[in-house]
Amino acid sequence: MRIIGTGSAHPSLVVTNKMLENFLDTSDEWIVSRTGIEQRRLISSESLEDLAVESALKAMENAGVVPDDIDFLIVSNVCNDYVTPSLSCVIQGELGIKCPCFDINCACSGFIYALDIAESFLATKDLRNILIVCAEQPGRMVDWKDRAQCVLFGDGAGSVVVTKGDDMKAIRLNTVSKVDPLWQKRAMQPTPFLRKEEHDGPLVMNGQDVFKLAVSSSIDDIEKVLSKANISAEDIDLFVLHQANIRIIDAIRHFSKQDKSKFPVNINKYGNTSSATIPILLDELNREGKLKNGDLLLMSAFGAGFTTGACILRWSK
Ligand code: UT7
Repeated sequence: MRIIGTGSAHPSLVVTNKMLENFLDTSDEWIVSRTGIEQRRLISSESLEDLAVESALKAMENAGVVPDDIDFLIVSNVCNDYVTPSLSCVIQGELGIKCPCFDINCACSGFIYALDIAESFLATKDLRNILIVCAEQPGRMVDWKDRAQCVLFGDGAGSVVVTKGDDMKAIRLNTVSKVDPLWQKRAMQPTPFLRKEEHDGPLVMNGQDVFKLAVSSSIDDIEKVLSKANISAEDIDLFVLHQANIRIIDAIRHFSKQDKSKFPVNINKYGNTSSATIPILLDELNREGKLKNGDLLLMSAFGAGFTTGACILRWSK
């Protein structure tokens, strides 16, 4: 496969750390030093579908394709207003594309999982272009009274269009069933026969456990994709990593022994937008002309599950 277009979209509301100080026992200094986040974008008047559609249209325009050129749509999303139908069904009509579609929920690792599915589909089916949309609103999942959580997240969407090609050099997905460190349940409709208690509440996270799992599993994934592709860390031009915490990115950087300039970040502006962080960052790099033909990108993400994924992709747009 080959990426031929990128797009992203952000809510209009910018929420700075200073704004959070108004209702939380926190400080700009704590948030910046512990996470690298200075501000985030949060949904206010717009909807998640709006962001998904905007980022997808931008990716199609960037790829030079029209809706009729898209043969499959994959959406990565953890939660949205609809339980059913899937977010992909909802936005497919608005985008004016006519093709099969489905959602995946692989939490923050969703973009890497979607790339792998797209790669397999392109290899085995008669498809021209696949649109991948990662649209997330973790800002609607967290408890805004819990300072250890709500400061971390932002809402947003990032999209790519992929086509047949030979740019995927190696990919590794991994899932280890560990629910405790990061989960959220929502109550379903009662029945006259229900005999169990249901839990309906915000995201539950053990930050330190997630931190440790994130660093160890990302390092493991990165070692494995480098070895699979027979490429050394020195040969990687950019490490486009999930933007969850600057200290997690720094830990991975120290392990790789590569220069800081190879680790682009935008977590300061957007916080953790779940599976959208990597396609949003990719879109920024693409539009700022920071990606050169032939560049080798290593992407790596981790999230609830515990799901992780990493891949090495040559840039040849
Ligand atoms: O995509 C996956 C999503 N999740 C993650 O990536 C989370 C990964 N984990 C992390 O990023 C970090 O563990 C956090 C940023 C969540 C927390 O950082 P930490 O260095 O692990 O802090 P901590 O949990 O050990 O808390 C240290 C102190 C505590 O106070 P005491 O008990 O020492 O008095 C917390 O109550 O910092 C306090 N604290 C805060 N203080 C000011 C926690 N959150 C805040 C806050 N402002 N927002």
